[in-house]
Amino acid sequence: MAAYRVDLRSDTVTSPSPAMREAMATAEVGDAWYGDDPTANRLQELAAERTGMEAALFVPTGTMANQIALALHVHTNGHLVACSAANHVATTEVMTAAALSGIAYRTLDPGPRGWIDAEQARTLLEPDSYYDVEIVDLLAVENTAGSFGGTVMPPEEIREIRKVAQEAGVPVHLDGARVFNAAAAAGVDVTEWTREVDTMMFCVSKGLGAPIGSLICGPADLMREARRLKILYGGAWRQAGIVAAAGLVALERGRERLVDDHGRAKALANGLAEAFPGSVDPELVETNMVFLETAAMDLDPLEAVMRMQEEGVGCTVAPPRVRMVTHVGISDEDVETALGAWRRVADS
Ligand SMILES: Cc1ncc(COP(=O)(O)O)c(C=O)c1O
Repeated sequence: MAAYRVDLRSDTVTSPSPAMREAMATAEVGDAWYGDDPTANRLQELAAERTGMEAALFVPTGTMANQIALALHVHTNGHLVACSAANHVATTEVMTAAALSGIAYRTLDPGPRGWIDAEQARTLLEPDSYYDVEIVDLLAVENTAGSFGGTVMPPEEIREIRKVAQEAGVPVHLDGARVFNAAAAAGVDVTEWTREVDTMMFCVSKGLGAPIGSLICGPADLMREARRLKILYGGAWRQAGIVAAAGLVALERGRERLVDDHGRAKALANGLAEAFPGSVDPELVETNMVFLETAAMDLDPLEAVMRMQEEGVGCTVAPPRVRMVTHVGISDEDVETALGAWRRVADS
């Protein structure tokens, strides 16, 4: 396995901080299946409080959180979830949704900043009145928009989308894997988005810096059913307080420093745009991701990633681009190291 001096592959590659390790070592635990793990319960309460939702459920992954949410809203096999064609639920998770819940999608390409607007939502939710075959049970949105470089859906847009969904009688789920990044970038509270949706999820394992875990949040009656589905999917993880303890540290202390990650992503983008004109649009770098067009340096993205790996810098392929993500483990110096490596790779 490659060891990186600078690992920009994702904000999921972080190691727990000393405070997290201490909290994990001393966590009070119980059996979460029975609902009596006090640390996991505290994390769920804090997650509900921070998102302004009635209740929350701690699960191992963002995928499980999304899949539970979709299953809560979709009534039967073959019903549709409407969303942007670029959303994680309709791309990476498309097979999972099909296998677990028989879900099919109705999608539209998003606008230039990666999110669908209210007019697109209206089109997606149009009833199939003539043939009466297609039934949309849920509208899903994503913020930040991961495959568009972590762009932020403005709060006024979700408010308009919510109105359209309400008119259509369709609930809304927010994949907020990085919604705290969105809040930090926009300088607003996450409730600007969460109060406009029926269910949402966020990950403590991404920018917030915890090793493991995601929270699904929503009304208490739906979260009771969510707990059933979590057990059904094999996610009842007993002494979950061990990891919830790190999640609590992440949620309590990990939010303020997200703006630093965003500043470093911007510095990386500006440096790349200056060295390789046309390779990055720094204006699109709103949070912690940088997408680089390697064609500007005459390189195929996979080849570029392999060459950067030889330089000890981890990046990922997001064809036709290369993706880099800043996180708690990335310093200003690391950004300079990555820029130096890109210059050498482009020159060789
Ligand atoms: C937007 C978004 N949603 C959901 C997920 C799934 O999270 P996990 O990898 O914890 O399953 C990811 C993972 O990167 C993501 O970027």
